Amino acid sequence: MDIEAYKRFWRTTVEDYIGFWEKEARNLEWFRPWDHVVEKGEHPFVFKWFVGGQLNMSYLCLDRHAKSWRKNKVAYIWEGEPVDGDGKPLSIRKYTYYELYREVNRLAHVFLSLGLRKGDRAAIYLPMIPELPMTMLALARIGVIFTVVFSGFSAENLAIRVNDLGAKILVTADGFYRRGRLINLKEVADKAVESTDVEKIVVVKRAGNEVAMKEGRDFWLHDLLRTVPENLVVEPESLDSTHPLYVLYTSGTTGKPKGIIHDTGGYAVLLNSTMKWVFDIRDEDVYFCTADIGWVTGHSYIVFGPLMAGATIVMYEGTPDYPTVERWWQIIERYGVNVFYTTPTAVRMLMRFGNEPVKKHDRSTLRIIHSVGEPINPAAWRWLFEVVGERRCPVGSTWWMTETGGILISHLPGLMLTPLKPGTNGLPIPGIDAEVVDEKGNAAAPGQRGYLVIRKPWPGMPGPPTGMWKEPERYRQVYWEKVNGVFFTGDYAVKDFDGYIWVAGRADEVLKVAGHRIGTYELESVLVSHAAVAEAAVVGVPDEIKGETPVAFVVLKSGYQGGGEMAQQLMKYVRETYGAIATPSGILFVSKLPKTRSGKIMRRVLRAVASGGSLGDLTTLEDEAAVDEVKESYEQLLKEVRRGG
Ligand code: WTA
Repeated sequence: MDIEAYKRFWRTTVEDYIGFWEKEARNLEWFRPWDHVVEKGEHPFVFKWFVGGQLNMSYLCLDRHAKSWRKNKVAYIWEGEPVDGDGKPLSIRKYTYYELYREVNRLAHVFLSLGLRKGDRAAIYLPMIPELPMTMLALARIGVIFTVVFSGFSAENLAIRVNDLGAKILVTADGFYRRGRLINLKEVADKAVESTDVEKIVVVKRAGNEVAMKEGRDFWLHDLLRTVPENLVVEPESLDSTHPLYVLYTSGTTGKPKGIIHDTGGYAVLLNSTMKWVFDIRDEDVYFCTADIGWVTGHSYIVFGPLMAGATIVMYEGTPDYPTVERWWQIIERYGVNVFYTTPTAVRMLMRFGNEPVKKHDRSTLRIIHSVGEPINPAAWRWLFEVVGERRCPVGSTWWMTETGGILISHLPGLMLTPLKPGTNGLPIPGIDAEVVDEKGNAAAPGQRGYLVIRKPWPGMPGPPTGMWKEPERYRQVYWEKVNGVFFTGDYAVKDFDGYIWVAGRADEVLKVAGHRIGTYELESVLVSHAAVAEAAVVGVPDEIKGETPVAFVVLKSGYQGGGEMAQQLMKYVRETYGAIATPSGILFVSKLPKTRSGKIMRRVLRAVASGGSLGDLTTLEDEAAVDEVKESYEQLLKEVRRGG
């Protein structure tokens, strides 16, 4: 198929998106077929996909393969971070599909015996160890709705999520390794549950560090498993297609994270199809996605997508630069990785060390490379294409978000090879009506910047009952109100003359720091909870490696002194109260924040000051502030920041 043929085909798939997705859904195994492909739910813009259909995600990922020739095919190759004196990994674990099936069944039994039942909620706070996907699959098997909380998050962030979801059980680990350091995870979990209704904590032994176990509340997983027979089977629940598989919290433009619900059936269909189109996944492939399962990329493309596809998946515990920057290339060589899915930030970081660390290792198995999470700059794209992929592999930048469930805009090497362009996301995938529009929803002219929207419902979109956990009204407002009646992604984008989409970044107060999604309001509320802080405003400034980093403007309460020591104190506070990923790259102390007469913080002024730029064009000022007012605030702030800050 060439690009014009694809566009014609694509048009038919969006015009009859219902028929198209119905056809795709037939590629899965259903316990009961659906009665209707898509229906309106109880709340505005919440759609129910494959209504009446029943299936089970754990069945699709495991049982199917365990009963086929894939039974003894390796599902996961897991590599721990620590290495011996020669730089060889100290622990490698491999699970065949049959072994994974067995483990997950026993784990499901453990959760049942702890009292969990279909519709209950559980929270998972685990590092990148095999027990993480196993726990997700075991809970999916019995219909328990789970939320995975990134293991780099603080106790506060964990508690917020546990409480919002109403989780009764928390699964965590004693500790894990990160850039050579042992992190005591259980300690953070203990602190978090103090302010929750968690009744039981299941603890995986990973690092062997000393942890406190509370009698009657805390259980070692290996103790719970001891009496469960090796061959115990827990039949997968036959779940409605609309049954929530999980809730994943993501940052928005208020202090409170949004709990995005993903259903079972629609989500499974989108993942199954994108594994073919985007990754062209084949049975002989070894697939390596470098994300953390704590984020949506890991949910969809380390766990459910590739397992449904029956792939062999490499899962790595640690950071790409431990013990050296060769680690990922060693992994690619060691396991003969064919399909590699990574992030622009990591690529930019590794690029700095030149081509030698890459070239020392055999990458001849690589076939397809994609990145995700933030725009990829042409230089990083070229490095992936020329150095890592030796000009043999298509390199893409897959666009999607927590809310979309799976990839929606991408090069599609599994369908056809369109000409590559460094930095673009490519064309919308089949069945997805993505468009760049103005505020009124009219398609923007090619080359014009606009908002990226999705104009038709798609399987994998936020699911029933409320789209956003317990917040149907917020769901409607955030995604469906800005551009009337279509899904507003919050991203700026440009469509070029070939129809390729180029996502430029967020159009709202959400930052992408090393690909991690962080709301400026979230950080501001952390800062103002510190005893010394009266007011705070956070903006993102461009960063060569991380894409963007937060800079905070802080007004101190009287009696407190700004300066280096206070800045260090506040950075430590953010690290502990939110997580290291959000640590500001700078803290500037000012006597007051520039605001419009109506009290809105002039973020544009702050951004200009923080990035050392100028105010730029003021003719299209979106604030209600007068031009003079903005200029004046800018100059004043500049002076103040130069003086002290
Ligand atoms: C951004 C991550 C440009 C975008 C899967 C989106 C991207 C946000 C790309 C969602 C890409 C993701 N090119 N920007 N290939 N992929 N983004 O929820 O701003 O963590 O809105 O999901 O990441 O972030 P999230």
